[in-house]
Amino acid sequence: MTEPFTIAIDGPAAAGKGTISRAVAAHFNCAHLDTGLLYRAVGAKMLLGQDPADAARGLTAADTQGAGLRSPEVAQAASRVAVLPEVRAALLDFQRSFARRAGGAVLDGRDIGTVICPQAEVKLFVTASAEVRAQRRYAELVAGGSEVSPAQVLADVRERDARDRDRAAAPLKPAPDAVTIDTSDMTIDQAVTRAIGAVERARTG
Ligand code: DC
Repeated sequence: MTEPFTIAIDGPAAAGKGTISRAVAAHFNCAHLDTGLLYRAVGAKMLLGQDPADAARGLTAADTQGAGLRSPEVAQAASRVAVLPEVRAALLDFQRSFARRAGGAVLDGRDIGTVICPQAEVKLFVTASAEVRAQRRYAELVAGGSEVSPAQVLADVRERDARDRDRAAAPLKPAPDAVTIDTSDMTIDQAVTRAIGAVERARTG
């Protein structure tokens, strides 16, 4: 791809968006932006006492790096700052220009197909049952050395789902023209194949 070509991948926490997005970006050799990291970086700054809107306005690339951003505490903080319209507005231009860069871009998040890039050439909504998502997140957290219980992770996933879906500003929902991929009963390879197929169809029109 040499022209701008936007692939929007939305969905709830731990549905497989990240894995699918990285695989799609590698397959089509285009750039990838995990937009959740922007909100996590703002959430981490809020936990350190900063005003979230100021943090969002002053965000740098370096702020979006670091293993600490993957913790459950930061995930909850990200979901809390994500309800603030000032935070979302401060992150909008960066995401839109990333989406239209030459060579194509994959963006994954919650509102890419609905608010950030309603004109995206491809929109996918990747989902899975809350139980399956919590199991996957639990395995990831335990592998990373966190001490959590399965029940706690499920409660966290449900709480974040409710906040992301019910907020007034850019709530989590599929765009009307999004292709939904439910990964509950799929392997990673099956989900990636499905996503690549949807992009191929859009490219060949
Ligand atoms: O994708 P993630 O789990 O890293 O996202 C963390 C939180 O950030 C998520 O609970 C809601 C928020 N978020 C958002 O509101 N909009 C996005 N485009 C991406 C993430």
